[in-house]
Amino acid sequence: MDKKKIVREGYNKAAQAYLDKRHKDLEEMNFLPEFSSYIQKGGKVLDAGCGGGLPFTKYLSERFDVIGIDISEKQIELAKKNVPKAQFIRKDMTNLDFPNAFFDGILAYYSIIHVPREEQFDLFANFYRMLKANGVAFFSLHSTDDPESVFDDFFDTKMFWSGFDKETNIKMLKDIGFKILWSKLVNDSLGDYQHLFVLIRKS
Ligand SMILES: C[S@@+](CC[C@H](N)C(=O)[O-])C[C@H]1O[C@@H](n2cnc3c(N)ncnc32)[C@H](O)[C@@H]1O
Repeated sequence: MDKKKIVREGYNKAAQAYLDKRHKDLEEMNFLPEFSSYIQKGGKVLDAGCGGGLPFTKYLSERFDVIGIDISEKQIELAKKNVPKAQFIRKDMTNLDFPNAFFDGILAYYSIIHVPREEQFDLFANFYRMLKANGVAFFSLHSTDDPESVFDDFFDTKMFWSGFDKETNIKMLKDIGFKILWSKLVNDSLGDYQHLFVLIRKS
């Protein structure tokens, strides 16, 4: 099974329908002012798995110099249209090679949950490397053990998810060197799952 292909092709098909659901009043927006408060105006921010850019990348782009990354070309096409101020690159977030200490902040909303979990430790470690000292990151992650799930009915297409339970996620982040500012379970606005949200800092 080519997990990345499922995700890429799935979001190529589902991008517009997903965006239509996302572009509403979302509770998750309420966390962005706090994340942003740690970053100076104009700072460099990565939005990893930015989707179609609304509403999160747009919010960030009004304050910061934002680079959005997504594995799906359709998502990148929508994001470029929706958020002309930001820069967008179609890329797998597990292959990022920005310089050390390049970003002041990294956001990953509902995207790491699609990365095969055996790649997630290295992904977090690479994010840590690319953050400046005291840089902040805000991720939504799995809260329960899920080696891999594949469903055929995600916006009428196939989709892949994977992740660890909350204790394992927190331990991985601490082992890498992140300081946990807070963590909390948040209801998915599109389904009945609780995600682990973490606001973390490079110490
Ligand atoms: C659920 S959507 C979330 C989009 C946006 N962050 C939001 O919260 O509205 C997940 C996004 O992550 C992207 N994604 C999944 N795996 C990825 C990977 N390995 N590298 C880059 N983007 C990825 C998908 O293409 C999709 O656009």
